[in-house]
Amino acid sequence: MSLGSNGLVYLDNASTSYPKPDTVIKAVATCMLEKGANPGRGSHRMANDAGRLIAEARGLLAGLINAESPSDIIFTYNCTEAINLALKGLLGAGDHVITTSIEHNAVARPLKVLERSGVIVDKVYVDAQGKVNINDFEALIKPNTRLITIIGASNVNGAILPLKEVGEIAKRYGVLLMVDAAQLIGHYGIDVHGFGIDILAFPGHKGLLGPQGTGVLYIRPGLDLAEMVQGGTGSNSESLDQPSIRPDRYESGTPNTPGIAGLGSALKFLQEVTVEQASRKTQGLVRMLIDGLSSIDGITLYGPPKGVDRAPVVSFNIAGMASNEVGYILDHQFGIASRPGLHCAGDAHRSFGTLESGTVRLSPGFFNSPEDIEKTLEAISIIVREYVG
Ligand SMILES: Cc1ncc(COP(=O)(O)O)c(C=O)c1O
Repeated sequence: MSLGSNGLVYLDNASTSYPKPDTVIKAVATCMLEKGANPGRGSHRMANDAGRLIAEARGLLAGLINAESPSDIIFTYNCTEAINLALKGLLGAGDHVITTSIEHNAVARPLKVLERSGVIVDKVYVDAQGKVNINDFEALIKPNTRLITIIGASNVNGAILPLKEVGEIAKRYGVLLMVDAAQLIGHYGIDVHGFGIDILAFPGHKGLLGPQGTGVLYIRPGLDLAEMVQGGTGSNSESLDQPSIRPDRYESGTPNTPGIAGLGSALKFLQEVTVEQASRKTQGLVRMLIDGLSSIDGITLYGPPKGVDRAPVVSFNIAGMASNEVGYILDHQFGIASRPGLHCAGDAHRSFGTLESGTVRLSPGFFNSPEDIEKTLEAISIIVREYVG
């Protein structure tokens, strides 16, 4: 039981995880009650304490992804901001970028804006099972290709893309690799060195179990990205130029100290549980969902075939019913929170052939139980019987 648990069967963890561990809620409250000063902005004790909370979370994040130095970890307010910072700080007119056909709008929309100012964008097609031909990346590389940016795992159907293989191609051609790890982080180990990742963007509030208002951008040492925002950093204040040192260059203005304190606490929680154990638990729930849904007539399941690893995301439709209708009934009649529709990823639904209908997405998280899944499968069987049969 968690402080935040409210009786709802919450299966929308791919959007943001809920509930958060008790220790996270307490860390946010303790920060606001006892360490509520502005970090790096004063030399008094409380400002220093707040600064230490942020430094600790930064260090834990560097350890989590095997970054060389905590100063390469930049705090943002969500994954979208991290992605925007990276794409807009890196790409200019004439640069070529390769991406996939299943990106979240957090990547697809900034790329569209950049395209209008002269960046050239090519998309590698990913099929309905999440399969991609790795040679397609290589075939698209040109002399002006600056970046390959790929989603780590689809937020629509959980398919995991072959990061290591794409990383090898990027390295071979001297092209940068960026990964949107929104649906991987906290579920699978990510080693930026091992995977050849130059830029990694992820949220603190999904699989890492931290508070909303937290996001992270890792930038490989030595890689020069322009900052999006200039302002007070608590450093080099005599100069009108933005400091060039990290993380100050990318973190102007007052940070979300309570959120980052909560994220630090969430990382300690996850360290104790281990990402492997957390993943084993959610993978078990995903298997239950897939097995159960496959045995109900009238259900179409999307995504990788049974037995293939996926992020904890399961998408389905009921024949003859709109996904929004199913989501509404699950919520209002059964107290089950799902996410119907297009999941901020029109491109992905276009690739998967579900743009018209959308899908109902169920995303189990660390605090779900097998009973939650049984209740959900029972509810879906009843909906099929009552509304379709
Ligand atoms: C694959 C993917 N990328 C990016 C995002 C955006 O994350 P945030 O809401 O933290 O900006 C999401 C959120 O659902 C996502 O699933």
